[in-house]
Amino acid sequence: MKTAKEEINTTKLPAHVAIIMDGNGRWAKLQGAARVFGHQSGVKSVKETVEAAAELGIKYLTLYAFSTENWNRPGEEVSALMELLVKAIHDETPTLNKNNIRLLAIGALESLPQKCIIQLQKAVQETSKNTGLTLVLALSYSAKWEITEAVKKIASEVQKGSLLPEEITESFFSKQLTTKDIPDPELMIRTSGEHRISNFLLWQLAYAEFYFTDTLWPDFRKEHFYQAIVNYQSRERRFGKTGEQIKNTK
Ligand code: IPE
Ligand code: IPE
Ligand code: MG
Repeated sequence: MKTAKEEINTTKLPAHVAIIMDGNGRWAKLQGAARVFGHQSGVKSVKETVEAAAELGIKYLTLYAFSTENWNRPGEEVSALMELLVKAIHDETPTLNKNNIRLLAIGALESLPQKCIIQLQKAVQETSKNTGLTLVLALSYSAKWEITEAVKKIASEVQKGSLLPEEITESFFSKQLTTKDIPDPELMIRTSGEHRISNFLLWQLAYAEFYFTDTLWPDFRKEHFYQAIVNYQSRERRFGKTGEQIKNTK
C-alpha cells in the first residue's frame, strides 16, 4: 500500500494552499483543558504543515490564524493568542530561514498589539530574501474588510481623476487586495468539521477546491496534509466548461 505522500503527483501540485485552522477550543475541551491549551498545541500542527508544504515544493501556504471577528472572543483568550503568536514567530524565524521560507502577513496588522507588529516586521524582513515556500499569515484578517478597503482606495482614485471606471478590471481589482502578488489558492482546507468560509479570502477562493476534514487542528499532521493534496489531485477542475472539453484539452 502506498502512503498518501507516495500517491502525490509532484508535477501537479497546487501552487497555493490556504488553510482555516479550526478546532483548537474543542480539542482542548476534549482533554478537559482550557481553550488556550488547544491554541498552544496547534503550534505543532502549524510547524508540521509548513514543513510538509515546503518539502513538497508548494510555493504558497496561507494560514488563517486570527480573524477580525476573533477580536470578539474573551479578552483573556485574545491576549493568550497574541502572546503565542509573538513567541511562535520569535522561536521559528531561524527555522524559516534554515528552510528557505519567506514569511508574509496579511490583514489589519496595525490593530495587533505593538509587540506583535514588531516581531512580525522583524521576521518578515529577516526572511524576505528566501526563495522557497512563501508562508502567509492572515492576522486580524477578514475578506469583507479587505474588499471594502480596496473599494475605498479605488473610489478615491476615481474621485481624484487618476483612474477611469473602465480601467477597473478583475485583474486591476486583484492588485488592490492584500494578496496582490500572490496567486489565488487552488486548494482550501478547513479542519474540525465546519463547512464554512468564515470571511476568509472571498475573492481569491472563487475557483478553489474545498477540502473539509473532521480532524481538529491540534491533531493535524503531515499525513493529513498529504491526504488533502491527494484528494485535490483526484478532482476535475472545470472552470465553467464541460467535463468533455476538459478531457479533450489534456
Ligand atoms: C481555531 O480554533 C483558532 C482560532 C480561531 C484562533 P478555535 O479556537 O476556533 O476552536 P473551536 O472552533 O472553538 O473548537
Ligand atoms: C475561523 O475560525 C478563523 C480562524 C481559523 C482564524 P472561527 O472558529 O473563528 O470561525 P467561526 O466563527 O466558527 O465561523
Ligand atoms: Mg473555531
